[in-house]
Amino acid sequence: MMAVAAQLARRRSVSCTGALLLRRTGFPGHPRPFSGSAARRAVMPAWVIDRYGTNEVLRFTKNAPFPVIQYPNEVTVKVHAAALNPIDVSMRGGYGAATMAMKRDPLNLNQAGSEFPLILGRDVSGVIMECGLDVAYFKPGDEVWAAIPPWKQGSLAEFVVLSANEVSHKPKSLSHPEAAALPYTASTAWSAVVNTGGLNKDNCAKKRVLILGASGGVGTFAVQLVKAWGGHVTATCSGAAERLVRELGADAVVDYGTGPIQNQLSSERFDLILDNVGGETERWALALLKPWSGAKYVTLVTPFLRNTDTLGIADGMFQTGVTVATKALKHLTKGVHYRWGFFIPSGPALDDISDMVDAGQVRPVVEAHYSFAQVPDAFLKVEGGHARGKTVIDIISDEHECV
Ligand SMILES: NC(=O)c1ccc[n+]([C@@H]2O[C@H](COP(=O)([O-])OP(=O)(O)OC[C@H]3O[C@@H](n4cnc5c(N)ncnc54)[C@H](OP(=O)(O)O)[C@@H]3O)[C@@H](O)[C@H]2O)c1
Repeated sequence: MMAVAAQLARRRSVSCTGALLLRRTGFPGHPRPFSGSAARRAVMPAWVIDRYGTNEVLRFTKNAPFPVIQYPNEVTVKVHAAALNPIDVSMRGGYGAATMAMKRDPLNLNQAGSEFPLILGRDVSGVIMECGLDVAYFKPGDEVWAAIPPWKQGSLAEFVVLSANEVSHKPKSLSHPEAAALPYTASTAWSAVVNTGGLNKDNCAKKRVLILGASGGVGTFAVQLVKAWGGHVTATCSGAAERLVRELGADAVVDYGTGPIQNQLSSERFDLILDNVGGETERWALALLKPWSGAKYVTLVTPFLRNTDTLGIADGMFQTGVTVATKALKHLTKGVHYRWGFFIPSGPALDDISDMVDAGQVRPVVEAHYSFAQVPDAFLKVEGGHARGKTVIDIISDEHECV
């Protein structure tokens, strides 16, 4: 809580400075940073889908609706780079559609399919083009990064509109393509390790943390985060990824290809387990926690969105609540905590991550670069699995080359 309060205070104090600066530099008596562009554009280039399906539903258009600021706390960001995550592939196929529809349209006023043309892409690094009336922390021209909530239009486009609370100043030490590799997975790892797992820079030293699935987007950041805060990391991955995971700082690496993880770690006990793999893991992983010590198992692979897709919002949420409560209670009687972790969009968390990047404590792991024209290839890459870090899209380099 104190960290959040300090973060918000910092945002407030910087916002005053920003407003004063603007008054001094050409907006006399005008505290809000507002773009001076006269001509309003109606369309922009983007990759969209018009229905859910496999990769062929991806369509490039130069005529996607130009995103418009609708609330005073919103900003328009010109996208320089984006990145893909497994959720983009899943959403392309309709995953989470019921919950996303409810988030976009809580009163259910719109017709089914009103989300189309839908723009995917959860990571953005770019430049602020325009700010809403209440935005003082940012000004046009600021280089920013953000993780975009899945119910909003995404970053596979020339522009995206976001709440200023979701946006943060980009690390100065990273290029836009490097920066785009971090926001969604780093925010997810932060949410799981800090908010749900209870670790932070002040209490993490010497904590023993097991990271299942350490070689992907979330895992490569989580390993570095825990190591930066002085924790001891045991990581699981395939043998082919061991070198990468060790380079990121893992103290011990277990190759899941050489036999059951639970056998290889049977003598170990952990304070926190972060599960990026799911499936069978929760059958055995909680036995590796230190009992009666507040130790937690946090899994990112949950049935929440699948439940609401198949059962509808009300029944799906009820089923989800029953499932998580039953599991949490069962494990509580054995002295360990069972939790589900979720991505949470947070500008303040990205501010902290930006500081850690610029301090050299954490870095992006970019596995593959694609141009804006190659977005369908990038989807196939992510869909193929076996990630070693992130797949990044350079949006700005050839934004007018798609046909
Ligand atoms: N709940 C949320 O809000 C939320 C948010 C973000 C992500 N997630 C979920 O969290 C999971 C991880 O996300 P991500 O972005 O890190 O995915 P990712 O980039 O695809 O990485 C997954 C990694 O796990 C490795 N792996 C696969 N099977 C494994 C096993 N049995 N043991 C150890 N490693 C294994 C894969 O490499 P190999 O196959 O080569 O081993 C890959 O490197 C995904 O299921 C994603 O959907 C959930």
